Amino acid sequence: MYNKKYSYNISLKNLNTFGINVTAKKIIFVKTISRLIKTINNCKLFKIPYLILGEGSNVLFLEHYKGIVIFNRIKGITITENNNFWMIHVSSGEKWHNVVKYTLNFGIFGLENMALIPGRIGAAAIQNIGAYGLEFKDICSYVDVLFFKNNDTKRIDVNSCKFSYRSSVFKYEYNYDYAIIAVGIKLSKIWNPVIFPILKNYTTLQDITPYKIFNIICKIRIKKLPDPKKIGNAGSFFKNPIITKKQAYPLISLYKIPHYPQINGLIKISGGWLIEHYNFKNIQIGDAAIHKTQKLILINKKNATSKEVIKLARIIQTCILKKFNIFLEPEIDFIGSTRKIKLKLNSRINLLKLMNK
Ligand code: FAD
Ligand code: EPU
Repeated sequence: MYNKKYSYNISLKNLNTFGINVTAKKIIFVKTISRLIKTINNCKLFKIPYLILGEGSNVLFLEHYKGIVIFNRIKGITITENNNFWMIHVSSGEKWHNVVKYTLNFGIFGLENMALIPGRIGAAAIQNIGAYGLEFKDICSYVDVLFFKNNDTKRIDVNSCKFSYRSSVFKYEYNYDYAIIAVGIKLSKIWNPVIFPILKNYTTLQDITPYKIFNIICKIRIKKLPDPKKIGNAGSFFKNPIITKKQAYPLISLYKIPHYPQINGLIKISGGWLIEHYNFKNIQIGDAAIHKTQKLILINKKNATSKEVIKLARIIQTCILKKFNIFLEPEIDFIGSTRKIKLKLNSRINLLKLMNK
């Protein structure tokens, strides 16, 4: 076990996809629930900060981490079926994309739209990951959660997960003293393809198969998104803003912004479009920059520090607020020296105050 007196400094540069060069006191890869519990118990006993990560593809480390980073590698996939559905129980340390491939190889369809999303199953549930018309909530049956307070595991039914756009009950209401240990995925035996607009550029609808959708999505993503192995990034740094019709319609008619009506009557606006049309030219703060083909993504060109990334993000937020009166909320998690920092990159109100100074 890590002893507080010793200062092991392990680099996390290759263990967060942003490629931020920070260290942790220690890192552990856990493969079993009992090892996870033992590690957490020890951390609590010795008052050592701990952080559970999957692949580190949705975080920005703000400082060196003064504790233990636990990488979840608890594996296992079990498939059962009834007349109408496949039920897939997946341990939280499995890679999301591997589960997509695994089910397709079995002839089980329904995950193909979310091919190639990086990260492990645990965060997929917390984040309610999504792409090309499908979200985790659409295929989830339950989430198994281990609470560290008493080491009890509870099965949370999908209806209690409070899933919404890139959010869930786990993200905001669970106070971080838990681990997702497994999820249940439920897929119909009758394939209902989720058709997304850009699909028709690649194939005709009559010819469509789950394998084709999988291949098309992989192709689009490889072309459009930066590969974290080559360019540091954590996917979309900002969420697409969701605003009221009253605010949205004048902007939409003025600028023809791509937008998506939501079931609750609000309107989702393309944040990438807003950034692209602000025309930041080749803005770069140190090694932090905006990705060329997907402007919601901030990149680390080589040795960017989190300070540089945050400075760039603030400039973008301020400019977008000034021009469009829209606040871009960060999508990723921020990790401080001992804990997660709750979303205070700059609240809308803070930004407005700053701008009026
Ligand atoms: P991490 O970054 O390791 O963790 C994220 C958060 O979850 C952290 O706060 C961590 O503490 C917590 N956490 C992780 N595992 C557990 C657990 N088992 N128990 C408790 N807490 C846990 N996302 C999308 O939704 N759609 C996309 O299309 C998409 N594309 C991306 C493309 C690229 C190139 C990149 C780099 C990222 C993209 N993302 C996308 C974001 C990212 O892939 C997802 O958010 C993913 O679910 C993160 O998984 P992870 O295992 O890396 O999580
Ligand atoms: N657009 C631009 N410029 C840009 C980006 C987008 O004009 O730089 C406009 C275009 O009109 C484009 C439309 O927005 O056709 C949609 O773009 P895209 O398909 O790239 O989707 P997105 O809304 O920008 C979201 C997710 C992605 C996910 C894609 C695909 C968020 C924050 N991002 O991006 O998820 O892969 O849809 O469905 O919702 C992530 O969460 O990390 C992520 C990459």
